[in-house]
Amino acid sequence: MNKNYYITTPIYYPSAKPHMGHAYSSIIADFFARLKKIQGFNVYFLTGTDEHGQKIQRAAEEKKMDPLLFCDEISKTFRDLSDTLNLSNNDFIRTTEPRHAKSVQNLWNILEKKGEIYLSKYSGWYSVSDEAFYSESEIEDSDGAKKAITSGSKVEWVEEESYFFRLSNWQDKLIEFYDKNPDFILPETRKNEVISFVKSGLKDLSVSRKSFNWGIKVPSNKDHVIYVWLDALTNYLSALNYPNESDNLYKSFWPADLHLIGKDILRFHAIYWPAFLLAADINPPKRVFGHGWILSGDEKMSKSKGNILDPLEIIDTYGLDPLRYYLIKEVSFGNDGNISQEKLESCINSDLANNYGNLCQRVLAFCDKNSNFEVPEKNTFNEDDKLILDQYSKHYENLIKYSNNQDVNLYINFIVDQLFAANKYFNDQEPWKKKNDKLRMNTIIYVSLELIRKVTILLYPVIPSSSLKVLEVFGIKEDKIDFETIRNNTYLSKGLKLGKLDILFRKIEKND
Ligand code: MSP
Repeated sequence: MNKNYYITTPIYYPSAKPHMGHAYSSIIADFFARLKKIQGFNVYFLTGTDEHGQKIQRAAEEKKMDPLLFCDEISKTFRDLSDTLNLSNNDFIRTTEPRHAKSVQNLWNILEKKGEIYLSKYSGWYSVSDEAFYSESEIEDSDGAKKAITSGSKVEWVEEESYFFRLSNWQDKLIEFYDKNPDFILPETRKNEVISFVKSGLKDLSVSRKSFNWGIKVPSNKDHVIYVWLDALTNYLSALNYPNESDNLYKSFWPADLHLIGKDILRFHAIYWPAFLLAADINPPKRVFGHGWILSGDEKMSKSKGNILDPLEIIDTYGLDPLRYYLIKEVSFGNDGNISQEKLESCINSDLANNYGNLCQRVLAFCDKNSNFEVPEKNTFNEDDKLILDQYSKHYENLIKYSNNQDVNLYINFIVDQLFAANKYFNDQEPWKKKNDKLRMNTIIYVSLELIRKVTILLYPVIPSSSLKVLEVFGIKEDKIDFETIRNNTYLSKGLKLGKLDILFRKIEKND
C-alpha cells in the first residue's frame, strides 16, 4: 500500500491580507494532513501564494509599488498566518520563485511540442478579479456594469493576440476520466455541475496574455505572459521539483492525493488542470474536493464587498483551537457555513470547556487524589467498561473511511458522542463511592484515562495544541501519536506517572 500522501491548499492571491475564507481552506487541509500523518502516512502538505496576473499587477499599481515588492509584503502575511494557524505544511511556495517559473515553462514547452497550443486572437469577456474568461451566456448586466453571473465580479472586454490550449479536444477524454475515477471530484453535487458543464461543450482556452507583463514569459514568444491559472495550477508540481521526474519528492508524491479548494475555483481544478496534465502525459491528481464558503451574513467574504472577518482578531479573542474546532465541527463540510460570535462562544462553553476540558480535569483530579497521579492497577473490565472502550475499535474502520472520503462531520460527530459517553460513564460509575472497593475504583480510573487518551488522539488533527497538552500528561509526544492505538483498550501501563494539566479552555462568561 502506498503510504505517501500529498495534500494541497489553493495558493492564495496576495492582493489583500488574508481573511477567514483563506483560513478555512488552510485549517481544513491541515486537519487532513495531521489525520493522515497519525494514520502512518508520510504526508507532504503544501500551501503558498499565487502572485502573478493582472489582479496582482493592478493591486500593486494602486499602491504605487513594484509588483514583486508588493507580493513580498503580502505573501509574508499569508506565511505568517500559516504559523498562526499552526499549519503543519512542509513547504510554502511562491509563484514568483525561479523553481516555479522553470516548471511552468517546461509544462508549456511540452504542450506546445505536442501541438496542444496554437497562436490566435482572443476577443471576449475577462474578469480580472476572478482571473477568468467568461462566455456571453455567463455574464449579465447589473448596476450598469457587465458582471459574471457566478461570482458577481465585473468583466471587461479583451481583444488581443493570444495562445490557445486545445481544450475542446479534451472534452470526451475528460468525461472518460471522470467515469473511470468517480471520486475525482467531491462532493457529488459539485461533480455533477462540472460534468454537465463539460458535456455542454468546451471551447479552446486562452492561455496567454499580451497586454500586461506581470507573469511568466511564454518561452518561445517573450511578448506573451502565461495565463495566470496555467501558471498557478502548476505550483502543485513545481513544489515537488518537477520537471525533475527522478526527484524523490516528485516520485513519492505525484499524483497528489487531495487538492482541497473552494467551490469557486472548481472549474480550474477539475477541468483545466486534468486537461493540461492529460495533454502533457502527466497523471492527474486523485481528488479535488470543493468546499463551501464561509459567509459573512449571506454573502461570500471578499475585499470588494468589504465584509471581511479577520481570523487574527478571532484568534486573539478566543484562541486558535476554538476557531479550528468551530470551523471543522459547525460548518457542514462541502456546504456554505456561517461564523457568529454567539455560536463560537457556545461551542467553546459546551463542547470544549464542559464536555472535553471538564472530562480531562475531573478524571485527572480524581486520579491525583486517589491513585497518586499514576495509572492504577485495573481489574478485569466489566460489561460497562467493555461497551464504552470497544466503541473505538468498533468504529475504527468507519473512522478511516471518513478520513478517506473527507467526511469531516461524521468524524467529529463520533468524537462528540464519545465525549458525552465518557462523561456519562464517569458519572454513572461513581468512582467516589467505591472507596471500599479500591480495585473497582481503580478500574474506573483506568478506563476513564484510556477514554481520554483515545478521544484526544482523535481530537489531535482538530485542536492540535490542546490535544498535545493532554497527550503530554500520558508522556505521548507528537511524533509518537498513533491512530492504531485507539483500538488498544489496555495501552496505558500500570504505574505510569501522569503529568499535570492546566485548564484547557476557559468558559466565556455571558454578560446578560
Ligand atoms: N489564487 C487562486 C487559487 C489558485 S490555486 C492553484 C485563488 N485565490 S484566492 O485567494 O482568491 O482564494 C483561495 C481560496 O480561498 C479558494 O479556495 C477560495 O475558495 C477560498 N476562499 C476565498 N473566500 C472564501 C470564503 N469566504 N469562504 C471559504 N473559502 C473562500 O482563488
